[in-house]
Amino acid sequence: MLIEIPNVLTPMQLKQIQDKLAHATFIDGKLSAGSAAQQQKNNEELSPNSQLQQELNAVVMNNLLRHPTFQSAVLPHRVSSPFYVRYSTGMHYGEHLDDPIMGPMGQQYRSDVSTSLFLNEPDDYQGGELVIKTQFGQQKIKLAAGSAIVYSSTSRHHVAKVTAGERLAAVTWSQSLIRSADKRQLLYELSLARDALLRSAPESQESKYVYSSYMNLMRMWSEL
Ligand code: NI
Repeated sequence: MLIEIPNVLTPMQLKQIQDKLAHATFIDGKLSAGSAAQQQKNNEELSPNSQLQQELNAVVMNNLLRHPTFQSAVLPHRVSSPFYVRYSTGMHYGEHLDDPIMGPMGQQYRSDVSTSLFLNEPDDYQGGELVIKTQFGQQKIKLAAGSAIVYSSTSRHHVAKVTAGERLAAVTWSQSLIRSADKRQLLYELSLARDALLRSAPESQESKYVYSSYMNLMRMWSEL
């Protein structure tokens, strides 16, 4: 599972977020890493629970959660507040696997899907690709500002060293209604077929069969 979500943020929202982050205080990213990832992590994060983080979340989370591709690809049940990360020149995040269980005691959730939202343009920095290991080899991801990538949290990944400029991103994790990445992918493709049929032939029998199959597979497979 590796799905791009374009245009999560508008150019005006991006500009406002970039302006706010330019004046923000960042802390060492090692402070939030699990013990295994700590050795690999060399980046900075916006202080969690700050007023600024809440302001950013109001825009970022609102747009991400309402995006139809995010909804159909992730099928989110719980979504964490994002971390806002900055990689200055020379920084990187070595190969790692995201923690399986996240969140404070009592509010824990399972990470099924990882999301990276790119907050500045690919031309603003050199290097800094998000590199994800898939069954078809490594995929190097460097998207336009405002676009996001969602991928299975079971994938090992790293962020290549930034060799010039600065990389800004928001990262968040979701517990999906559908635990299995294979089933989630199948439902995503079925939702694309359903949407196309509902547009082209809403009254057709095949449209109704695909629609009800989607609904009933969701009922069969979802975990709450
Ligand atoms: Ni990671």
